[in-house]
Amino acid sequence: MTESEAKKRIEQLTKELNEHNYNYYVLARPTISDYEFDQMMKELEQLEKEYPQYVLPDTPTQRVGGEPTKEFKTVVHRYPFLSLANTYSEQEVRDFDQRVRKTVGNDVEYVCELKYDGVAIGLTYTNGYLTQAVTRGDGNRGDDVTNNVKTIRTIPLRLRNGYPPELEIRGEIYFPIKAFEKLNAEREEIGEPPFANPRNSASGTLKMQDPAEVARRPLDCFMYYIPSEQNLTKTHYESLKLAEKLGFKVSKNIAVCKTIDEIFEFINDWDKGRHHLEYEIDGIVIKVNSIEQQQALGYTAKNPRWAIAYKFKAEQAETILESISYQVGRTGAITPVANLKPVQLAGTTVKRASLHNADIIAQLDVRVGDHVYVEKGGEIIPKIVGVNLAKRKPGTPPTRFIEYCPECGTKLIRKEGEAAHYCPNEDHCPPQIKGKLEHFISRKAMNIDSLGEGKIEVLYDNKLVSNPADLYDLSYEDLYGLEKVIPAEEGKKEKKISFRKKTVENILKGIEQSLNVPFPRVLYAIGIRYVGETVAKKLALHFKSMDALMKASFDELTGVEEIGEKIAESVIEYFAKPEHIEMINRLKEKGIQMEIREEEKPKADVLEGKRFVVSGVFDNYSRDEIKRLIEIYGGKNVSSISSKTDYVLAGHNMGPQKKQKAEELGIPIISEEDFEKMIGR
Ligand code: IVH
Repeated sequence: MTESEAKKRIEQLTKELNEHNYNYYVLARPTISDYEFDQMMKELEQLEKEYPQYVLPDTPTQRVGGEPTKEFKTVVHRYPFLSLANTYSEQEVRDFDQRVRKTVGNDVEYVCELKYDGVAIGLTYTNGYLTQAVTRGDGNRGDDVTNNVKTIRTIPLRLRNGYPPELEIRGEIYFPIKAFEKLNAEREEIGEPPFANPRNSASGTLKMQDPAEVARRPLDCFMYYIPSEQNLTKTHYESLKLAEKLGFKVSKNIAVCKTIDEIFEFINDWDKGRHHLEYEIDGIVIKVNSIEQQQALGYTAKNPRWAIAYKFKAEQAETILESISYQVGRTGAITPVANLKPVQLAGTTVKRASLHNADIIAQLDVRVGDHVYVEKGGEIIPKIVGVNLAKRKPGTPPTRFIEYCPECGTKLIRKEGEAAHYCPNEDHCPPQIKGKLEHFISRKAMNIDSLGEGKIEVLYDNKLVSNPADLYDLSYEDLYGLEKVIPAEEGKKEKKISFRKKTVENILKGIEQSLNVPFPRVLYAIGIRYVGETVAKKLALHFKSMDALMKASFDELTGVEEIGEKIAESVIEYFAKPEHIEMINRLKEKGIQMEIREEEKPKADVLEGKRFVVSGVFDNYSRDEIKRLIEIYGGKNVSSISSKTDYVLAGHNMGPQKKQKAEELGIPIISEEDFEKMIGR
């Protein structure tokens, strides 16, 4: 392929892939298979590597996330980022309508929309390209989260047909409910605290420093407002249609209403219908449709006078708290659970509610025997929001949080700054042992899926395994004929697990194959608290073997990029226990990978500890390749030049400001050839 052919092909692939992306994510009508899409994507990635000079600003390859962000820049909003006046009262919606009519007359139309419960975002497009994405912040200034927002597939990187040279548009980024539940399950597995609701997971994700991690989470976005100062359309409804035409995702659940009755019809429909949506809404937004009328109505200091948000009351019920039980999670975290007298709430029978932790119990001062109010907060897990004190029987004793683990009797601990109580007996407390074993065999760890679906529990109950190393001692005779009947539960049939010939053979084969699992996954599998998949990879690449990691000091650990004090402490604590060392030694004897293999190994440490800033375009490598080389040879990539930078590796078109800064600080600027010499290429 000649250079000009490559340029053309890059242009073509970028265009087509963006189109397919739009068809798939915005329209939900894909026209090619995932396989074809992946093939085209791979081809584009390859070409971009070879010809970085032709990479386009809207390349779909950046959707997977670029460089980590150190700190989010503060940006002043061009149009103030107002919020809406809120109400829970129907009467106030009527009053709003009356006020509007008084100012603009009776010829008025409203647009009713869903009030998405997520995080507001303002997008700027310059000449059709997404140039900036900023959070609401305090309304006047927000955080620049552009790199994270670029990973959201329903946000166009480049606008479609007929866009103005400058466009500001606003919307709500949200976390779909199913994905939120999955994310929380994963977080609990690695000992991270779960997010309270989808909105928190959206805002937490948007503020993450690693866009690649953001790209792995399925954020989505509805656009709902084009600041009217831009005078692009005559009505709000048309502006939403324009947004759709430009390639944005706009909700179809919109109605133009002429009367207050029509507005209430919309509200009532969605008060019921919201439970079936794939995302959360917390109310309905009512906006005056005509932009001219909007301008006549104007603004208060905080809100437009032409719109109001009607918020749904969370559905509540009153019932009796019969008892509190305490569950021990896989990581030892204790969750207090309220057992309630069954009550109907939002279409389901509620018998249990989470009480979260000791602080929440104290705050609510909730006691066994109390009449309590339960709410379906965020429509997911019911929670207790208050106590009907008038009905409390005199002499009801206050709740005392348990002091000892209900499963193993160990005294519970509470770490400073953490809300949860923990059972520290991680190696002998039954739910924790089972949890650790289940984690060990899970897909991203040792991937012994033939042991899934309750089989681990059977092994544990039969006293065949109590830690991962025991798995490697199992024989055919140990397993054959084991059985367990799981009694039927609400909505679930009785289940029988039996270990027949084929099952046992598969289990033994799975265990055998796990000997090939690479060291980073082994490190993840042993289940050190706070050492998730990514951290395990970082530690494995840095220390290269379990032995070296075991010996690492606190300072050595925190010296590794992105390893903070919490993780370092946890690693040190883990290896301080003789039982853990013994288990690791047993795993090692069985042949589990305890070091990075030759092909995964960094080549040599010629760049050990040196900090590089990479800038510009290179002849022989893409930027990502050159950064990887730096890491392979033991160096570190940093994003901005400071006195701590060792080298600036400059390609073509290095930014003049970077150059000046490097010169001022006396930091050597080296070329691609200099770098190749350094690493002996
Ligand atoms: S319009 C000037 N429409 O609710 C009017 N907001 O305080 C700008 N929200 O911060 C807002 N759904 O994040 C509008 N359909 C919708 C919305 C919506 C959710 C959020 C938005 C805003 C908050 C209201």
